[in-house]
Amino acid sequence: MCGIVGVIGKKNPAKIIIQGLEKLEYRGYDSAGIFVTGKNKQDYLVKSKGRIKELKAKLPQEINGEIGIGHTRWATHGRPSELNAHPHTSEDNRFVLVHNGVIQNFEEVKAKYLTNYTLKGDTDTEIVVQLIDHFVLTEKLTTKEAFRKTLAIIEGSYAFALVDKEEPDVIYVAKNKSPLLIGLGKNFNVICSDAMAMIEETKRFVEIADQELVTVWADAIQIEDAKGNLVRRESYEAQLTLNDIEKGTYPYYMLKEIDDQPAVMRKLIQAYSNNQQELTISQEIVTDILNSDRIYIVACGTSWHAGWVGKQMLEQYTSTPVEVHLASEFGYNMPILAKKPFFIFLSQSGETADSRQVLVKINELTYPSLTITNAAGSTLSREAKHTLLLHAGPEIAVASTKAYTAQIAVLAIVAKVIGEAKGNLKALNIDLVHELSMVAQAMEVLISRKEVLEEYAQTYLEDTRNAFYIGRGIDYYVSMEAALKLKEISYIQAEGFAAGELKHGTIALIEEGTPVLGIITDANIASHTRSNLQEVETRGAHTLIISMSGVEKATDQLVLPKVHPMLTALVSVVPCQLLAYYATLQRGYDVDKPRNLAKSVTVE
Ligand code: F6R
Repeated sequence: MCGIVGVIGKKNPAKIIIQGLEKLEYRGYDSAGIFVTGKNKQDYLVKSKGRIKELKAKLPQEINGEIGIGHTRWATHGRPSELNAHPHTSEDNRFVLVHNGVIQNFEEVKAKYLTNYTLKGDTDTEIVVQLIDHFVLTEKLTTKEAFRKTLAIIEGSYAFALVDKEEPDVIYVAKNKSPLLIGLGKNFNVICSDAMAMIEETKRFVEIADQELVTVWADAIQIEDAKGNLVRRESYEAQLTLNDIEKGTYPYYMLKEIDDQPAVMRKLIQAYSNNQQELTISQEIVTDILNSDRIYIVACGTSWHAGWVGKQMLEQYTSTPVEVHLASEFGYNMPILAKKPFFIFLSQSGETADSRQVLVKINELTYPSLTITNAAGSTLSREAKHTLLLHAGPEIAVASTKAYTAQIAVLAIVAKVIGEAKGNLKALNIDLVHELSMVAQAMEVLISRKEVLEEYAQTYLEDTRNAFYIGRGIDYYVSMEAALKLKEISYIQAEGFAAGELKHGTIALIEEGTPVLGIITDANIASHTRSNLQEVETRGAHTLIISMSGVEKATDQLVLPKVHPMLTALVSVVPCQLLAYYATLQRGYDVDKPRNLAKSVTVE
């Protein structure tokens, strides 16, 4: 989704803004722009469709100024184009604005206030900058007053950075539902959608709450609530180093992040172990879950897939029924809830708007909730009653890999701890620390066999238009994730199916050479999945079988090291991630930045 950066008080703001935008590239975008001004009154507004490198190529050699804002746009209203790229300017070019989010009532605002304005592009954002201009001109308000009045009128989600060319020593910012942070420096300050963008400039950040308006000078900031009351808020140090966000010798972040997974498993063991080397989570979470009669897991995409594996683990270890819901459906189609529901929000970014709108409703209903996220301090983390962190380190490739496995590992820890508290025998008997260490080792074995997966990608996925992953139980849940990985980066139309369901319709799609990849880790259902693979093979499918040691057959193409039956997803997903990675490379696409996708989906 859109990314915002800004800087005030530094000599070369353009350079810092471009570097910041490059660090936000992972969020997904289709155009970018930058505005720089300063006391010399000369200003630069440069925008470009496409990548940051195209924007960079358009920038003049020298850009003087002390203040600037930049933006990467992921189009919602108006096609990706130079005209629709941010920053947007008011009709008289005095005000310059960047925006992340969606203004829902922009049509009404336009009709009510802006009939005299000629709009330059098709975005909802332009309405906002014109409205500020309108209030300054017609009501003689100060810029800050006009901004505040505008914020009270517009509806929707936003993070804004506003510059008034007549006040070239200040940036006004505000947010509602979309992320934005202020970074504090010595005689300079920065703004950014994600601390990662400005970590080279500062490690000290201040959060902004929804509906606050912040005035940012080079040497001070002032936070006010919606009514104009001053707000005091301490800064915090971001636990992030430049190393965390660089890909080093790796060609792509995705490959680095796949390789990070064994280390993440070990980090999680450490993070959730007490002095007696027992896994533990906060007692308040345990109490809330023990008091509930049903757990609802709410998530999107890959996190939703992790939720399905989590359901299996939680039900088996805690005997509490678990429902898994897509956030985008749940919010507007809420099922009849149990008497004492407990909500788990799974979100790598902690910013996903679909999940957040559910959390807002859950909070209104005063039900207890837990966010499991990779982003401490993210919106979902702040707004849920409890948080458990994924400790996966920044995940920059758009396709989620290590966050998925970290989510499953954290859910396993929750299942074990709650199960133990309930005296469940399965939970008491599993040595999860040991089993997760075995998972880390198994992941390492697979990661060391990359060339095999590279070859399979070539043999099975080259030139194909579509592909199917099939499995049963946990293997079905992994099949859904494996298919999502493949389709989102290689653009092969891939679907994950419950193996037994294929023959109820989808088998009609099987043609000579259609790749069908079977995942088999569970001895109880192995023979059934094998029969389904046989059925498609008879119809011409090109089958590849990924099985787990103990249920393998000599003809299986890949045998996974054996791990605890509850944790097989953590291992079987790794070759699927690698297959997606290599299939994408072989097709010549950008692995880390697939078309149309955004890393952090901050619009509903
Ligand atoms: C796919 C992927 C997405 C996200 C989804 C939810 O690789 O990354 O499907 O899982 O957009 O994002 P989070 O987990 O940040 O809420």
